[in-house]
Amino acid sequence: MKEPKQLSVSAIQNGTVIDHIPARNLFKVISILGLDHIHNQITFGTNLESKKLGRKAIIKISDKYFEDEDINRIALVAPDAKLNIIRDYEVVEKKVVEVPDVIVGIAKCMNPKCITNFESVTTRFRVVSKKNVSLKCHYCEKITNQENLHII
Ligand code: CTP
Ligand code: ZN
Repeated sequence: MKEPKQLSVSAIQNGTVIDHIPARNLFKVISILGLDHIHNQITFGTNLESKKLGRKAIIKISDKYFEDEDINRIALVAPDAKLNIIRDYEVVEKKVVEVPDVIVGIAKCMNPKCITNFESVTTRFRVVSKKNVSLKCHYCEKITNQENLHII
């Protein structure tokens, strides 16, 4: 018999549940989505057990539905995130995040001489590889990859 499911964070009535966030990147996701600036009810859990991620985090945002374009901004820090759209307590849609073709802000250019590192210019990259993240700087054309990726 299947064990009854225990929710470590209460169910929500309407809104978005973002599951399978690597625990170490929870606060980056919060900041990328601007969740620290909105007035919706938000609950989260972190360091929850996950077979796939070791330790995962989950965020539940009541009465908020994101545009794909906005949610895809978290792909750099939470590539395996699963979105669940909740209406009237039911999961009505599941989505995965996709690394966008262009990344504006979010990541820092690894080139210390890049203009974005000494003037207040928003970083901008073209994504040259989505699997092993590889970003080409719009300004200096240097490649920033997974190993030297720093989130601003
Ligand atoms: N959830 C919620 N409020 C609801 C319904 C679901 O917070 N009213 C959350 C669940 O806690 C879960 C996620 O939304 O974290 C997905 O729900 P569900 O599809 O029922 O769970 P699973 O089958 O475990 O989903 P998956 O295996 O796809 O992660
Ligand atoms: Zn650069």
